[in-house]
Amino acid sequence: MEDIRKELDKLEQYLKIKPLYWDFDKNEFLWIDTRLLPWKELYRNTKDFRRVAQAIKEMEIRGAPAIGVSAAYGMSLALKYSNANKPEDLLNYAKEAYNVLASTRPTAYNLFWALNRLWNVILKSSEKNDVEFMKEETLNEAHKIYIEDIKNNIEMGKHGSKIIDNNFRIITHCNTGALATAGFGTALGVIRYAFYEGKNIHVYADETRPLLQGARLTIWELKKEGIPSTLIVDGASGLLFSKNMADLAIVGADRITLTGHVANKIGTFNLALAANYHKKPFYVAAPTSTVQPTENPNDIVIEERSPNEVLNIMGQLTIAVDGTHAFNPAFDITPPELIEGIITEKGIVKKPYLNNFKAIMYSY
Ligand code: MRU
Repeated sequence: MEDIRKELDKLEQYLKIKPLYWDFDKNEFLWIDTRLLPWKELYRNTKDFRRVAQAIKEMEIRGAPAIGVSAAYGMSLALKYSNANKPEDLLNYAKEAYNVLASTRPTAYNLFWALNRLWNVILKSSEKNDVEFMKEETLNEAHKIYIEDIKNNIEMGKHGSKIIDNNFRIITHCNTGALATAGFGTALGVIRYAFYEGKNIHVYADETRPLLQGARLTIWELKKEGIPSTLIVDGASGLLFSKNMADLAIVGADRITLTGHVANKIGTFNLALAANYHKKPFYVAAPTSTVQPTENPNDIVIEERSPNEVLNIMGQLTIAVDGTHAFNPAFDITPPELIEGIITEKGIVKKPYLNNFKAIMYSY
């Protein structure tokens, strides 16, 4: 545990925004409620895995890596506070927690990646026939996932910053910053890293209908750090590229297949089309924990959310007449031919994605 705390101290400098963390004194999990941003900075806390599942489902916590890390802590809470005193009972309870957490958001691959990683640790540790050992091993693994996520984001920043030249104007979509991860961010982490290196950059943030993660969260993060930014509506990117007002687009991902198909927040595909039409590079930044080891893009599950999110703005203002039908897919899939490169913690993956992903995913 001391090692983990030392590692965390070293990363502190990169955590100007701390979206979620484990409280080592109270042994509980905390997160900033992103539904309330930018109006209110409120941390929530719990020792109950079901509350973590609720926070993910209701998008207090969102963004694929943040969802994965939180689910890992959710599993740890389930085991830590379980009354089971036999390994088989604890395993049964862990399976229940797994199912509850896995049923929260269907597209974010990091969720399943993190839960499966913990499940393997739980199974292995059960061989020792000691429930306390199982609990410790599970929490340790969650800490490892948390630390790895932050480190991976910093690595992505290092690799990705190379594609950002001085004076670049960059369009991004949704929120891929600290708030979408354990800290620092993926696509916004790359942008953040370039800014820390002293590059003069300007970020255009798509507002990201319907839940406005770009307007509410990305702009909040950029302003907090003094990174120059402008908010645009989702449909504006074509005009910006055509008027030579933007040089590059960079987004995150909820799920990537080995073929390089990228599921990300609805509107990403349109941004990629606009960038490609104008011969501007379109990049994706995501850790390899977002990569589903499949060669079939049809394996990507697209979450469909309530039409009410489209019919109302943040549940406040109704914007269409009663009886209007709305369709609300939360993600779309950008095909590999539109993607210049996928920035991972292991480097920038280029076409042909299948060969190159296999090489980085399965090389040790
Ligand atoms: O519905 P959300 O807000 O969870 O969607 C988030 C995104 O689409 C992000 O771009 C993606 O998870 C990558 S975050 C680093």
